[in-house]
Amino acid sequence: MAQIDRKDSHLTLCLEEDVELTRGDGSGFAGLRFDHDALPEMDLDAVTTEAELLGRRLAAPLVIEAMTGGTSRAGELNRRLALAAQACRIGMALGSQRKMLEDPSTRSTYAVREVAPEMPLLLGNLGAVQLNYGVGALEIRHLIESVGCDAFLFHLNPLQEAIQPGGDTRFSALVPRLREVVPALGVPVLLKEVGSGIGRATARKIRDLPVAGVETSGVGGTSWAKVESLRTADPIQRSTGERFARWGIPTAESVSICRELLPGRVVIASGGIRDGIDAAKALALGADAVSLGLPLLRAAARSVEDTVLALRRVIDELRTAMFLTGCRTVADLRLRALVRARDLTAEG
Ligand SMILES: Cc1cc2nc3c(=O)[nH]c(=O)nc-3n(C[C@H](O)[C@H](O)[C@H](O)COP(=O)(O)O)c2cc1C
Repeated sequence: MAQIDRKDSHLTLCLEEDVELTRGDGSGFAGLRFDHDALPEMDLDAVTTEAELLGRRLAAPLVIEAMTGGTSRAGELNRRLALAAQACRIGMALGSQRKMLEDPSTRSTYAVREVAPEMPLLLGNLGAVQLNYGVGALEIRHLIESVGCDAFLFHLNPLQEAIQPGGDTRFSALVPRLREVVPALGVPVLLKEVGSGIGRATARKIRDLPVAGVETSGVGGTSWAKVESLRTADPIQRSTGERFARWGIPTAESVSICRELLPGRVVIASGGIRDGIDAAKALALGADAVSLGLPLLRAAARSVEDTVLALRRVIDELRTAMFLTGCRTVADLRLRALVRARDLTAEG
């Protein structure tokens, strides 16, 4: 199926269908709580959510996730997301720029710097597996330079490719390909999942690569197994997609693993982060920033104003969680322990 059809059908499904893991504590954050401090010994006004990420100063450690580009509807959504990111002084990632390689006329759907020149951080995006399908450093440098990205995300999506009709499933020898290509790109590179998380085995392989860091995209939010199972007409692929809807590493666990195994590298927490309390917990587990996808896409489908409101809500919740744990800065959150929430009504 052509990429244009794929991207547009992903947008329709993600905007209209139930593609999230809403039952239970998928992301692992609900089972954790902070030790609420009723005597924080500081003023709410003293809290600052400002943070630095990849050398850029942000009003809060927040990034809009890689989602879209390549069609006129996607271009409009990207422009709205960019205007909201600029208004809130946070970062934004573009969706896969693969379409730009196939059809250079789609560049304008990714060229968000032209509408939001003050946005502090812009990340480009491509599937790492494309390195096994003829794409090299030259083409990726062109993707980066022609839209003015500050950093680049390679997505790792073996589950999605396995379930989607005609998926790109040749994942052999990607580690040496990444080792060769990454240093030639001229900007910091991060590796991200798309909803199944980065676990120990993957983090160990990433440790030896010349990358700036990772974005977890763990289990708990948008499920690509669910999206692809809704899209395929093949009954076997559909049932495999449904079976694997919860496959992978919950986001909270993925953040702790990445923090432990990748000291000194950037860790962006994502996958089912839905409010500023989840964000505060992810930062306490060691993330440098957090990223939200689907809720912001749905807000952008309504308006720029709704997207700004959604972001302001998350930032205000983060600020409140910091006050209630006596944290003046985002870095202070790292010093706050999370405890497992206990069910005191349980017997035994
Ligand atoms: C409509 C849509 C399109 C997406 N397209 C991409 C993509 O092109 N590249 C990518 O790396 N991730 C893509 N993602 C995955 C997100 O970046 C993110 O990893 C995932 O949605 C989990 O976060 P969430 O639960 O906050 O949505 C997409 C997500 C959505 C909802």
